[in-house]
Amino acid sequence: MVRPPAVSLCIASGKGGTGKSVVTASLAALLAPRGRTLLVDADFGVGNAHILQDVSPEATCVDVVEGRLSAREALVACGKDLDLFAAGSGVPRMSELSSFELHMVASGLRELESDYRYLLVDSAAGVSHQTMAFARACDATLIVTTPDLTAMTDAYAFLKLLFAGRAGTRALLLVNRAASVEEADEVTRRIARVGERFLGAAPRCIGWLPHDPAVSACVNRRGVPVTLEPGAEVSRALRLVASALVEELAALSPLGFGSALQREVGFVARFA
Ligand SMILES: Nc1ncnc2c1ncn2[C@@H]1O[C@H](COP(=O)(O)OP(=O)(O)O)[C@@H](O)[C@H]1O
Ligand SMILES: [Mg+2]
Repeated sequence: MVRPPAVSLCIASGKGGTGKSVVTASLAALLAPRGRTLLVDADFGVGNAHILQDVSPEATCVDVVEGRLSAREALVACGKDLDLFAAGSGVPRMSELSSFELHMVASGLRELESDYRYLLVDSAAGVSHQTMAFARACDATLIVTTPDLTAMTDAYAFLKLLFAGRAGTRALLLVNRAASVEEADEVTRRIARVGERFLGAAPRCIGWLPHDPAVSACVNRRGVPVTLEPGAEVSRALRLVASALVEELAALSPLGFGSALQREVGFVARFA
């Protein structure tokens, strides 16, 4: 029987430090018990998803790009139903891969993605070709913003590029580090207003997370509150976000992340 590919979700933002990696690690912990999950650290040059999983990967995407290992061989087990495709650590070249190198990563992931129900991409900051290709290849993109004007501006810029590349992308919004539900609502309204006015579409808000000192305390222990401090305010909010996402993702027909990424990077093998 042919298994369908995993449903893929990119966690992105444009700006660095908005909470993408914390949100991705938290979602990975909450989704894995519902279905086998693959976490792809797409911050290929300076990834840190492995820190939040408290693992020290021996193999990373660098081994795949340099042809030493297959993507499957490079996976790092992080739990019963959670595997990590780890990024390089301080390897600047990895954030500017050629189309051929990205194609190698894409075809490696394509071979193994139907082993999973969920594929989560922890995006790099910025709007580079590589970063946008990962987002556009996903079935849905969760844009994480904070109430800071700079973060909202970058969230809008990311959204604009996302829609420009593939109009069918399911765009979702998460407001992180909000002081109150009113502040989160105001951020959502502001982004929706500019989205509708200039792009003709707005991301659907999936929820919000409070600013909570438990997050940095847990990060310093190489983990996230949903596992280390399940009673924390932010953990309760993350469980609501995860439930809303599960419903959202269940309504999508997965297109296959690997083949979509191959199309995005546009590498066509030429045989003489
Ligand atoms: N809801 C939150 N409350 C308090 N601090 C947070 C929250 N979310 C993120 N942080 C802090 O922000 C830092 C950066 O988060 P991270 O997920 O690494 O950002 P990104 O991946 O977007 O660069 C974390 O180490 C944590 O200290
Ligand atoms: Mg990060």
